[in-house]
Amino acid sequence: MTTTQKAIELEDQYGAHNYHPLPVVLSKGEGVYVWDPEGNKYYDFLSAYSAVNQGHCHPRIIKTLKEQAEKLTLVSRAFHSDQLGDYEKYMHDLFGYDKLLPMNTGAEGVETAIKLCRKWSYEKKNLTPEKATIIVAKGNFHGRTTSIISFSNDPVARKNFGPYTPGFVSIPYNDLDALEKALQKKDVAGFLVEPIQGEAGVVVPDDGYLKKASELCKKYNTLFIADEIQTGIARTGEMLCVDHEDVRPDIVILGKALSGGAYPVSAVMADDDIMECLRPGEHGSTYGGNPLACAVAMEALKVVEDENLADNADQMGQLFRKEMNDLVDNSDLVNLVRGKGLLNAIVINDSEDSETAWDICLKLKENGLLAKPTHGNIIRFAPPLVMTEEQLMNCISIIKDTITSFEETISA
Ligand SMILES: Cc1ncc(COP(=O)(O)O)c(C=O)c1O
Repeated sequence: MTTTQKAIELEDQYGAHNYHPLPVVLSKGEGVYVWDPEGNKYYDFLSAYSAVNQGHCHPRIIKTLKEQAEKLTLVSRAFHSDQLGDYEKYMHDLFGYDKLLPMNTGAEGVETAIKLCRKWSYEKKNLTPEKATIIVAKGNFHGRTTSIISFSNDPVARKNFGPYTPGFVSIPYNDLDALEKALQKKDVAGFLVEPIQGEAGVVVPDDGYLKKASELCKKYNTLFIADEIQTGIARTGEMLCVDHEDVRPDIVILGKALSGGAYPVSAVMADDDIMECLRPGEHGSTYGGNPLACAVAMEALKVVEDENLADNADQMGQLFRKEMNDLVDNSDLVNLVRGKGLLNAIVINDSEDSETAWDICLKLKENGLLAKPTHGNIIRFAPPLVMTEEQLMNCISIIKDTITSFEETISA
């Protein structure tokens, strides 16, 4: 058996150091729990960055994965499969878009949406060839490809990866005046935005922002593109986060929990007017839309519906924020809690470059709960959506006790 220590040593020696994980090794998962090789049990309060909304190794998803894996896994898009059409129809019925374009990872989904948006802008809006720009929001996180990091303003994500892809205009998040000004410029094709900025520290825009932003896009005949990779699939208490404001984006990007964490599956959805701008040979991916992915995604979504995970996320989220607000009132260490559904964060009362949030996460781990800082002094809390009230109250006690005792140690 690989011990925790050995597993960390191996990764350290033979793996690229492009992540800085918490020093915990996981070897088993079930629902809201994960275990390390020594048998210690933890609550997972990150859910693989909101990919495991349905809980670890959901029996229905794993059963489907196994059954499909024994029949057919990959055909490429050179041939049809008996799963792809079913999946595309299922997604149409669930989300109401004419068509779906299947991909694998989130970043690929975003790249696909960018290409689709630009192509539409030349073919339907007659923008100047090669000049189409896409508006993005400061603080965004949309993935790690060269084009995507080109419009990030996180120096760590960008430094020494240039030259960067041109054609993006960055405006402040949650700023409708800035959006309207940017939309008035020449050759604007779309506005790409996260309904809540997850990586930036669960930054929730003002009520009405998404609605107004989508209306402005319509006014200027510009595509409103929602990156729902982290916020989608019930995470915020609705199937899509834009549903809170009855917004229907022109393009929706999904990933992560689309497979319940069992397999990389992402998707881009749009209506015919946009999607039919793509013709054979113009875009694709060997694994995109493979039968295993299609079967897993359909089952993962059925689980979300059958288990009312959006409602549960909404209810548990309200309870969580109420309890965390208690903590904010009674602690000098926690400044505020914010979020929607079960996508939440607390802001620690310390400088952005302090180690306090990291040290609190180490203590939380010792006490049986896994979470990770996002930016500096912010800790994101995003447990699987299958969490029961009893489990959540247990987690809240762990968080409260850990932070209270941490505070006592530093003030002693
Ligand atoms: C909003 C958002 N978009 C895109 C991505 C990129 O997804 P992936 O890591 O699957 O490429 C992420 C991942 O965290 C994300 O949160």
